[in-house]
Amino acid sequence: MQNASSDSKYRTIRPAFTETTPTEHMRETIDIHCNEGTCSRIAIGSVEEDFASMLPEDSPRVIIVTDARVHSNNLAFINSYERIVIGQGESSKTLVKVEEVYRQLLAMGADRSTFIVGMGGGIVSDITGFAASTYMRGVRFAFVPTTLLAQVDASIGGKNGVNLDGYKNIIGVFRQPEFVLCDPSLLSSLPDREFRAGLAEVIKAGIIGDPTLFELLERHTFEDLRGNDELLRDAIVRAIKVKTAIVERDECEHGERRKLNLGHTFAHAMEKSFTNLSHGEAVAAGMAIICDAANRKGILDTATCDRIKAVIGKMGLPLEYPVEMRKLLSLIRSDKKREGSGIYLVFPKSIGDCIVEKTATDRLEEMFPGNRPTETSSVESESENME
Ligand SMILES: NC(=O)c1ccc[n+]([C@@H]2O[C@H](COP(=O)([O-])OP(=O)(O)OC[C@H]3O[C@@H](n4cnc5c(N)ncnc54)[C@H](O)[C@@H]3O)[C@@H](O)[C@H]2O)c1
Repeated sequence: MQNASSDSKYRTIRPAFTETTPTEHMRETIDIHCNEGTCSRIAIGSVEEDFASMLPEDSPRVIIVTDARVHSNNLAFINSYERIVIGQGESSKTLVKVEEVYRQLLAMGADRSTFIVGMGGGIVSDITGFAASTYMRGVRFAFVPTTLLAQVDASIGGKNGVNLDGYKNIIGVFRQPEFVLCDPSLLSSLPDREFRAGLAEVIKAGIIGDPTLFELLERHTFEDLRGNDELLRDAIVRAIKVKTAIVERDECEHGERRKLNLGHTFAHAMEKSFTNLSHGEAVAAGMAIICDAANRKGILDTATCDRIKAVIGKMGLPLEYPVEMRKLLSLIRSDKKREGSGIYLVFPKSIGDCIVEKTATDRLEEMFPGNRPTETSSVESESENME
């Protein structure tokens, strides 16, 4: 990470928020510096204590975009700002919803100086980031992620996008939020299933780039992580650092950023074909498939493969996949986002080290032999999605 002190963007952030003078709650800040000089600051802090101090002084107006559940959980805070409340669920991550946000912004008289904040899970951050990046050719924005998945993954790294015709995240832009304020205390109202979904991405971060994080997950239970604030904060910070380090080196996913898609090629095929599986659950099962394949290829030793699957299982995430492998492969093969006749697959080599391999789609059957599906399902259409 580079020193941010000379970056003009930071002069717009109030003096209370600096590297050297964090507030009592703001235990950690992580800055992202990307190729074109854009930057983003991630703070682990408290919404109540730190949010106002992170807002740029030269934006006269702040509008919060949130979903109905997050709004009702944080009424006093959100109602102290102007707000737009959007629907919940993956089905609302569409251009239609983005248009609704544009219309509300217009009706509210939002202009280029308006600062937009997405407060919610990954759906809210994806919609808000895309709407803010395109409204009036782009206004400044930030995120206050309220799910574990959004804190460690969706709000970080500047990918903002929506789905179209069943293709996830197929329409979007790379644009960094000005800041991300992660308040782990917001996660206390999160249902266990959503918390688990986030843990899948934390496990992924450990496998991709942080053996210490992975060992932390091996040593502790789901209940430990839910109940111990310090432990959770440590896991969140470590997972964020894995992602930010990769994003700094490859913001627009020309190479190394693909590692963040570990397990996702299969996960999104599962999500598409088995609608009850959450994103995190599908990522967990997708990582198990890829680990087994890496083991068969001789890239990943059996003991390490077993360690990864043990952590996934211990956290209550699925190791089995509920769709026939041939159906998953059919979805992956027909993916409109594949490049030429190949797809990029991420294989773990050891804990903290993965390789990305472009794999010919006509080799998929041989690499991924059949399975024992836990439930039957129908494949409705083809899809493949990335992080
Ligand atoms: N842009 C990226 O880089 C990126 C990365 C990973 C995932 N994503 C996207 O993120 C989305 C998934 O995000 P998600 O898992 O956060 O889902 P989500 O946004 O749908 O949130 C899950 C549910 O939790 C509720 N919720 C949010 N915060 C809560 C809280 N604190 N307490 C109680 N309930 C709360 C929401 O209202 C929602 O019903 C997917 O669309 C995925 O594609 C994007």
